[in-house]
Amino acid sequence: MTRNNTELEIEQLRKTIEQHNRAYYLDNAPTISDADYDALMQRLLTLEAEHPELADPTSPSLRVGRDRNDAFVQVAHERPMLSLSNTYNYDEIAEICQRTDTLLATDDVPWVAEMKYDGSSISLIYEEGVLVRAVTRGDGTLGDDVTVNVRTIQSVPLRLRPVAGHPDYTTGRIEVRGEVLLPFKEFERLNGERAAEGEAPFANPRNAAAGTLKTLNSRVVAQRRLLCICYYLYALDDETRLPDSYYERMQLLKEMGFDTGVAPFRSSDLSALYHYIDEWDVQRSDLPYATDGIVLKVDSLTQQRALGNTAKSPRWAFAYKYQPENARAELLSVDYQVGRSGIVTPVANVEPVLISGTVVRRATLHNEEFIKSLDLHYHDYVYIEKGGEIIPKITAVETSLRRAEAEPVRLPKSCPACGAPLQQIDGSVGYYCVNSYACPPQIMGRIEHYCTRRAADINVGPETIDALFDRHLIENIDDLYKLTAHDLAQLPNFKEKSINNLLASIEQSKSRGFARLLYGSGI
Ligand code: IVH
Repeated sequence: MTRNNTELEIEQLRKTIEQHNRAYYLDNAPTISDADYDALMQRLLTLEAEHPELADPTSPSLRVGRDRNDAFVQVAHERPMLSLSNTYNYDEIAEICQRTDTLLATDDVPWVAEMKYDGSSISLIYEEGVLVRAVTRGDGTLGDDVTVNVRTIQSVPLRLRPVAGHPDYTTGRIEVRGEVLLPFKEFERLNGERAAEGEAPFANPRNAAAGTLKTLNSRVVAQRRLLCICYYLYALDDETRLPDSYYERMQLLKEMGFDTGVAPFRSSDLSALYHYIDEWDVQRSDLPYATDGIVLKVDSLTQQRALGNTAKSPRWAFAYKYQPENARAELLSVDYQVGRSGIVTPVANVEPVLISGTVVRRATLHNEEFIKSLDLHYHDYVYIEKGGEIIPKITAVETSLRRAEAEPVRLPKSCPACGAPLQQIDGSVGYYCVNSYACPPQIMGRIEHYCTRRAADINVGPETIDALFDRHLIENIDDLYKLTAHDLAQLPNFKEKSINNLLASIEQSKSRGFARLLYGSGI
């Protein structure tokens, strides 16, 4: 094939794939089977690999990701990424609006209310309409360059669409900011897969989105179907060429091809803004991704500049946080988990309830004092709240629904795992199992901790450690270094490749350095 023909074929493939992407992701109406789509993509990938000179930063093949990225490079943000001050009640909103009126010496300031998306923030830089860089927030001044990963997010345009009836905003240098989110459904699917592979689940969709953005394999990122909702548009070269109104900029963002999420609302009437906030507190439970409040922004960029920023946050924007969602569920039983230090933590098993889009089955009970303060009884109906924490918490008990014969929850006197007596250590509210060298969860907890990334970084999940322990192949950290291929072959699903990988990972851990190994041994 001549060079020209190849060029034409690549061009044609890119166009066709983009059309199918639009039909699939935007219109929800696929026009081709998955197998045919994969064949087109494979052909494009092959041709691009054979002809690196025909590479294009907007090729849809970049959406597939690559097996291994280089480590992320830290880059400085051209404008710092600030955070928002929070308010929790309507009186405070009124106060802030009043203060803003005073600062601007007017009593008619239009505000824009929009959702506060609960994900991981990202800055996208476009040059002449092409996405050239995507950087995480980092510390607000320096972030990680995660462009390869962000290119796999379907809702991030690789090339901007010019907007009809407007000057061509796609020229020059443009910065768009937004929030990368993992939809609830994807979050549940991902955690299900992680549990099956013995990996620790992500605590919440926000952590999952942040973790995914920093994954070194962008093919993995592509499979997780992240979403990016944008809420910020600046021209880095000449800011004045864009409209002065934030609200209008949001409309532009949408027409340029970005996902702008829930339609924002603009008004200078406080009661109309309250109405929007109330309405979305209810409606947001139908959204497929996490939101945790409303952001209020002064609409005019001229007024925004006049108000300026404090060291940490702008004076022209703030967040109103919704009360975390809660639900009522029956307490079914209480488990006692023994940690690697021997501490016994009670965990409530509750009937499954949906809170903020995820199914909750367990809630922490912290310690005996907490249980006593709730006066918790078996089969009580409890209120469960899910904030950003790993495990949801019980906030109250519905005593009016308690059965007459209900037994109070009491911590056991002996270790639920090994039967040794539990002891309270002076000054601590917790109970400990004193049998630290023979109590199985303590031993496994110590080995798991030793293998974590920050310590020896041995690539092994808790399920494998459990399986090794059950077969008496490991009883302490030293035993990891005595494992042979023959030992590992006894584990279910361990074939030649996984055996060699684990042995190599154990071998590599010997060179991690003293400080990390010391940390890993829990000293
Ligand atoms: S504006 C200077 N708008 O909230 C303010 N931020 O607490 C720039 N966030 O880091 C941010 N939804 O990651 C803005 N509609 C929204 C937002 C939003 C979520 C996040 C963002 C920011 C954090 C601040």
